[in-house]
Amino acid sequence: MEFLNLFQFILLFSALVFGLRLFRRRKLPPGPIGLPLVGNLFEIGTKPHQSLANLAKKYGPLMTVRLGSKTLVVASSPEMAQQVLQKHDEAFSGRVISDTITKVQNYDLNLVWMPAGDQSRLIRRALSTFLLHPKKLDTLVGLRHKAMQEMVQHVTKMSETGEAVDIGKLAFITALNQMANTCFSMNVADYNSGEAQGFLNAGLKRRAKVAYNWLNSVSNEFVTKRLQHRKLKIARHGDMLDSLLDCVQEEPELNYECVKVLLVELLLGGTETSSITTEWVMTELILNPNIMATVHEEIKKKVGDKGRIEESDVLELPYLQAVIKETMRLHLTVPLLVPHKTETEVELKGYVIPKNTQTIVNAWAIARDSKYWEEPTVFKPDRFLNSKLDFKGQHFSFLPFGSGRRMCREFPLLIGL
Ligand code: HEM
Repeated sequence: MEFLNLFQFILLFSALVFGLRLFRRRKLPPGPIGLPLVGNLFEIGTKPHQSLANLAKKYGPLMTVRLGSKTLVVASSPEMAQQVLQKHDEAFSGRVISDTITKVQNYDLNLVWMPAGDQSRLIRRALSTFLLHPKKLDTLVGLRHKAMQEMVQHVTKMSETGEAVDIGKLAFITALNQMANTCFSMNVADYNSGEAQGFLNAGLKRRAKVAYNWLNSVSNEFVTKRLQHRKLKIARHGDMLDSLLDCVQEEPELNYECVKVLLVELLLGGTETSSITTEWVMTELILNPNIMATVHEEIKKKVGDKGRIEESDVLELPYLQAVIKETMRLHLTVPLLVPHKTETEVELKGYVIPKNTQTIVNAWAIARDSKYWEEPTVFKPDRFLNSKLDFKGQHFSFLPFGSGRRMCREFPLLIGL
């Protein structure tokens, strides 16, 4: 009798757990059923932004998919993106930390992976102290122009010898030096340097590790040297590193380790995204000679006999700006943004998304949806001319930098927008 009772109890308990799971599943947004164990892994494949966009056509702008045992919620319309990134941004502000990330030294000091709490606010404030100070960025403009001149000289030399230019490498080294000049007032690579080439030649899998190790040693070296300079009362440079070291001295919760990690993060994150965008701009201009001619014409008119384009000129080149925005619409460097995670249970449009659910915004699908864009797959910079559409996270059909508390605010600040 006792055995039967126990058996009945186990049966009842299992039925309850199973029922509860089904009940919870019913409250999640709809989505493809998937196979046991693997879930929708095979349907998602190697181009998740594209396959998720196709699945969203069937299951709607808020859907659930499963990757093995993990549940993922995907937002694929401007309205749903606004719900996730703006209306409920605090609830969706978590990050998913994979095992690969935890293997990276000091990953928990990384702004991208850190919870959106006091520590991340402190670091972002330290960054803004520099980026929001118009004079501080202006002080270094000469150095950034010099890095640009070096790039032009390199291309001129290549054209004289008839050598082909690898736009990807050129854009990468130029973007890296631009970022390094903002951080340390100095280039860290030249067009033939071994380290940069080593990084660029590494396969995709090894690339992040090679780059991290190299930039980590660069950052260590600069912080150590700059601290010695301070002891010896050597004149300041007025760059981002000086500004961050000042913040450490004023704020006991920041330390030099945070500064080193932040510098690597800025050099790594800032360089790849910017250089990939430049590569796409050049690709689209080569594919669209009429648009290339209009860009040339606009630059020639503005720059005149000066012979070189300066940072401040860019704000007065609306067609070039439209070309950059259209490139960012069609070729998002971070098509699914960085995955978010729910910090609490969230009720959204009648569905219930449990705490700790990975949530993705498919910015790629939104940027190519014919409901919001005319001829979405055609490269048409004119659509951004005389338009108020910008990338500051308030137009949810165009989200190259995300929106809300985890958005990439640093890049627009860096280019003075
Ligand atoms: C074309 C260039 C760039 C693109 C397209 C880009 C895009 C993005 C995107 C999509 C995110 C994630 C937003 C989200 O999760 O909702 C992000 C985060 C971030 N970006 Fe950028 N980025 C660029 C350049 C830069 C640069 C130059 C810097 C540094 C100066 C930077 C610093 C950051 C940081 C610190 C975060 C993490 C924010 C957080 O998680 O709280 N990015 N970026």
